[in-house]
Amino acid sequence: MDQPTITEQLETPAEAREAGRKKIAWARQHMPIMTAIAEEFGAERPLEGETVAMAMHVEAKTAVLTEVLAEAGAEVAITGCNPLSTHDGVSAALDAHERITSYAKHDVDDEAYYAAMEATLDHGPTVTVDDGGDLVMAIHEDRPELLDSVVGGCEETTTGVHRLRAMDDDGALNYPMFAVNDTPMKRLFDNVHGTGEATLSNVAMTTNLSFAGKTVVVAGYGYCGRGVAKKAAGQNADVVVTEVEPRRALEAHMEGYEVCPMAEAAERGDIFVTTTGNRDVVTAEHVERMDDGVVLANAGHFNVEIDLDGLNDLAESRREVRDGVEEFRMPDGRRINVLADGRLVNLASPVAMGHPVEVMDQSFGIQAVCVRELVDGDGYDPGVHEVPDELDREVAEIKLAAEGVEIDELTDAQREYMDSWQHGT
Ligand code: NAI
Repeated sequence: MDQPTITEQLETPAEAREAGRKKIAWARQHMPIMTAIAEEFGAERPLEGETVAMAMHVEAKTAVLTEVLAEAGAEVAITGCNPLSTHDGVSAALDAHERITSYAKHDVDDEAYYAAMEATLDHGPTVTVDDGGDLVMAIHEDRPELLDSVVGGCEETTTGVHRLRAMDDDGALNYPMFAVNDTPMKRLFDNVHGTGEATLSNVAMTTNLSFAGKTVVVAGYGYCGRGVAKKAAGQNADVVVTEVEPRRALEAHMEGYEVCPMAEAAERGDIFVTTTGNRDVVTAEHVERMDDGVVLANAGHFNVEIDLDGLNDLAESRREVRDGVEEFRMPDGRRINVLADGRLVNLASPVAMGHPVEVMDQSFGIQAVCVRELVDGDGYDPGVHEVPDELDREVAEIKLAAEGVEIDELTDAQREYMDSWQHGT
């Protein structure tokens, strides 16, 4: 394998490792679900003999998942799923683990990014764990010889699940994939609260500007959008929502937000956050209508939601005005500020730490039990699969116990009543 690991690429790997270890230890300390799963996996070693390939945002919480899979007996090879979201120290700390090899490096060019992906696949995975579907795509398109040994995979995010469903519809998905994103313990917390909190805090930290008194335009009122909208309103911003789906638009309207097309919102917003998973949501046409000084941020998976080429064509000049803030100056003097190169701001801005730890404890708890299910379960056909409900419940129960929250249990009479169609008048 020619591709250097992170350790081979860093000038002072020991220092980086130390900083990374601290971040991982802090995260792990606040992840009761992963702690409980680690205990079980450490004792039972369900992944003995397996090789897990991961393409994820390589930061502290992901590192805990990676370690737990290794502690379950797997060999793990990991790389990034975004050129800007890797924390090199965390990556180096992982690489020092005897069962983990990390190729993830921050701020690499496209060639190095894909070479790292290739090197990860060179380990010959039996399970893949993706955030955005990159490993699955690479295996199907470039490395079909690996299909024989892969028993299945897990997908973390909405955009990845969309891509997998499109593959599945075309009959092109040749191994089973769990749509981890779509399960309640992930989507109702990670996408809503995680993206909401992390996006706003990263916009605030990157710009040092306030939300109060501003108009925040949220493009897309899906799981992520509703989190961003709610938290922005909670910080005293006026929120305007744009949508293309009538029921989602109506939901936003009934929630009390103003809903209008982007062409109109463009004239009103101070801060724009895209959360659609789509492309060209903010275009040059919209920018033409924007005020001087607006801030554009993306929280969707790929950096195509803001049309940066269109913006570049309009601009007379561009320059970095703060770490993570690029100013595009228009010929009429207006300044349009783009955060984190239009990449998902909560993971790719210079101060980014990703979602809060507690939220990722849930998401990665689901990932861990899904990996166990792929190798231990009854076997799944190729295609996209929902996470089995009992796995989602298992993780919820661990979390409730950790939080010290008790809930009622159905009585036999209640269970019978709920299952019956004959009771009632
Ligand atoms: P979702 O499917 O629930 O919501 C997306 C919404 O955007 C839908 O309501 C859709 O109708 C709307 N939309 C699509 N095109 C639009 C357009 N041109 N203008 C306005 N609205 C439009 O998806 P979810 O779960 O909210 O995810 C959104 C994106 O965020 C995905 O790319 C996902 O992978 C990513 N994501 C990012 C995270 C982060 O850490 N920043 C965390 C979780 C997901």
